[in-house]
Amino acid sequence: RLESKIEGIASSIRVVPHFPKPGIMFQDITTLLLNPKAFKNTIDLFVERYSRMDISVVAGVEARGFIFGPAIALAIGAKFIPLRKPRKLPGEVISERYVLEYGTDCLEMHVGAVQPGERALVVDDLIATGGTLCAAMNLLERAGAEVVECACVIELPELKGRERLNGKPLFVLVESH
Ligand code: PRP
Repeated sequence: RLESKIEGIASSIRVVPHFPKPGIMFQDITTLLLNPKAFKNTIDLFVERYSRMDISVVAGVEARGFIFGPAIALAIGAKFIPLRKPRKLPGEVISERYVLEYGTDCLEMHVGAVQPGERALVVDDLIATGGTLCAAMNLLERAGAEVVECACVIELPELKGRERLNGKPLFVLVESH
């Protein structure tokens, strides 16, 4: 049953070669969203895992963490925090820079969104190099939250992003090789 759910999720993700750049195999979750059963199974598998972990905050990473994170947060009775690209949040923010293949990017979080000691889950669609999740965790920890785990739909294990998470647990549904 679990294996057939995972298989249904994996087979609903479209791989687009050479997008957005030559050599990149883009993992397109929009096709998963077109399959209500597979989309629901995706959310349900996360909810089953996290509903008993006493998590009070789900933080989603722009942009595709905003698709999965809020559904999980609502189902487990947690609040949702958007972690956004620079200059999108109107209030006072803290920022974390992270390194990309070419150059750097940045994530921001509203000051006051999370209280010290809160138990947090970080959600995104995919982990590649792990730089994005690392920055997301740093934001929450700087605000005093305890990051319990990171959750992604897809992992690209060859890129060894897991090793950049400083031992923090990472839960994924699908590995793409
Ligand atoms: C993708 C993906 C993750 C990140 C993972 O987002 O949705 O957020 O890359 O990469 P990493 O593990 O190497 O850090 P992208 O940078 O394409 O931004 P977008 O969601 O705003 O398009």
